[in-house]
Amino acid sequence: MAVLGIDLGYGFTKGVVTGSEEKFLCQSLIGSSLERVLSGGLFGTNHPDDIQVDIERGGTSDSYFIGELARRESTDVTYTMDENKIDHPLTQVLLCAASAVLWPGKDAGPVHLVTGLPMSHYKTQKAKLEENLRKLDAKVRIPGKNTGWVPVKFDRVTVFMQGYGAAYAAVLDENGKPRDKEVLQSGGLVVVIESGHKTTDVVTFETKPKFRPVDHLSFSLNLGGDNLAQTMLRVFQEKAGAQCPASVQDQWTYEGQLWYDGKEVNAKRELDQARERLGQTIMDRIRARFGDNAGRVSTVFLAGRNAPLVEQPCKSTWNNVRVVDNPQFANAEGYRIVGEMLERKATARSQDKIRIA
Ligand SMILES: Nc1ncnc2c1ncn2[C@@H]1O[C@H](COP(=O)(O)OP(=O)(O)OP(=O)(O)O)[C@@H](O)[C@H]1O
Ligand SMILES: [Mg+2]
Repeated sequence: MAVLGIDLGYGFTKGVVTGSEEKFLCQSLIGSSLERVLSGGLFGTNHPDDIQVDIERGGTSDSYFIGELARRESTDVTYTMDENKIDHPLTQVLLCAASAVLWPGKDAGPVHLVTGLPMSHYKTQKAKLEENLRKLDAKVRIPGKNTGWVPVKFDRVTVFMQGYGAAYAAVLDENGKPRDKEVLQSGGLVVVIESGHKTTDVVTFETKPKFRPVDHLSFSLNLGGDNLAQTMLRVFQEKAGAQCPASVQDQWTYEGQLWYDGKEVNAKRELDQARERLGQTIMDRIRARFGDNAGRVSTVFLAGRNAPLVEQPCKSTWNNVRVVDNPQFANAEGYRIVGEMLERKATARSQDKIRIA
């Protein structure tokens, strides 16, 4: 069975699927759609990141703008995921969009969805989220991305702890085989740090006597790129004497430079300092949680789009620090890899049964 790995991050939704190089990446923002008469009619073409999603589920049909298009064109307040909303009907819009772009529906065969929940909500929300995703039965159309209505329905659903996806993608290759046997048999601790928008997840494995996760050294910090964005918004207020307009907040946060009120506002120095401070704070908090165990760490893998923020402070603390390939997609990739391992096991079990029968 094919596996869809979908990472519903607070900042971006990421998705990958078995047997395809295609990747889904979209800001986790949703707004209601308007008739795009102006942008469609006047300029003829739409921006490649523009995604409109039409959904039919439970007898109702709705239309949304997601990602960049929601930020630019939705007039109502956009919905963003926060603490308890992974299981929200609007979060399902992002999931349905990722699924419809990556998987053409049941004509292509059955599909296994693997996704994640933040560590802090995992125990309380896993069972309910799995149940709701199993029940999901929608039809989705994405004008401009695919031709007709795509059925979105999952034959199997698995929900992992966020961060564990990245951890497995760091140590296992795309076929589920160890990438580097030496790392897995070093005898020391292997640490995977995944730094995203609101959270930084840390997952630690011991390698002897057996390769397995260490619960008390696996945790989530409420620190990530959002802290940098908040700092930069305060800096804009100080420098420009006004609030930074929502439509250019990302440009300001990541470039530290903006044309506003007839002149250039520049905070490149403040941006560098804020990035450095945030990286150091994240690293200090991780180091404090490790205590005496810090000396046992043999290898560190960095994942998440904010991996570069932690790289330098991490290298000052530990040797052998590596940024994984395609760090923003590490969770989604890991979900796919582990999902495919589960599928191979299930196939082997059913073949055994056939042989016995
Ligand atoms: N243009 C950009 N340049 C640099 N960094 C960016 C840019 N756009 C976004 N980012 C950073 O990437 C972060 C999102 O990364 P990522 O997709 O790994 O997080 P997430 O999985 O959505 O968040 P979380 O894991 O907390 O749920 C943003 O919070 C921001 O800090
Ligand atoms: Mg993430």
